[in-house]
Amino acid sequence: MSRRFLFLAFPLLAAVAAVGAAWTLMAREHPPGDPADEEQVAVGGALYGWNCARCHGEDLGGELGWVAEETNLSDEQVRDVAERLGDVAPAHDDKGQTSRLDDATLFRVIDEGPATVLDKPNSRMSGFHGHLSDGEIWAIIAFMKSHWVEGETPPD
Ligand code: HEC
Repeated sequence: MSRRFLFLAFPLLAAVAAVGAAWTLMAREHPPGDPADEEQVAVGGALYGWNCARCHGEDLGGELGWVAEETNLSDEQVRDVAERLGDVAPAHDDKGQTSRLDDATLFRVIDEGPATVLDKPNSRMSGFHGHLSDGEIWAIIAFMKSHWVEGETPPD
C-alpha cells in the first residue's frame, strides 16, 4: 500500500465514520416509531383498535374475551386458566414484558408473528405481514410506546 493511498484513505474513512455516527444518532433521535409524534400515535391508535385490541385489550392491559370465543370455555374458565398460566395475550402497557422488547424485535413480532420471532410455535397470534404496511406497524409501535413511562422497567 503506497503512502499516497494511506494519505487519501484515512480522511475518507474518517469522513465515512463521521457520517455513519451522525446517521446513527439521528436514527436514535427519531426512531421510525416515535411516541412523541402525535399524528403517528393517533394513526397507530386507530390501527391498534382495529387489529390488536381484541386480544391485547383496548387499554393495552391484555384481554381474555377472544379466548372464550375461540375455545368454547366460559369467561370464568378462561380467567382461571389465565391465572394459572400467566398472560393469555400479554399486556402492552408498561407493566407487560412487551415494553422490554427493542424496536426492531417489536417490528418483527408484529410483522412475522411471535411463533418464529419469539420461538412460540403454538402462538395464537399470526403475523400481520401483507395486512399492515411497514409504516402502519411503526405507527402501532409509536402508539404502544406512547403508553410506556420513560425509564421505568416493568417487574419480572
Ligand atoms: C388472536 C389474538 C391476537 C391478536 C389479534 C394480536 N395478538 Fe399479539 N399476541 C397474542 C398472544 C396470545 C401473544 C403471546 C405470545 C403467543 O403465545 O403467541 C401475543 C404477543 C404479542 C407480542 C409479544 C409480546 C411479548 O411481550 O412477548 C407483541 C409485541 C404483540 N403481540 C403485538 C400485537 C399487535 C401490535 C397486534 C395488532 C397489530 C397483535 N399483537 C394482535 C395474541 C394476539
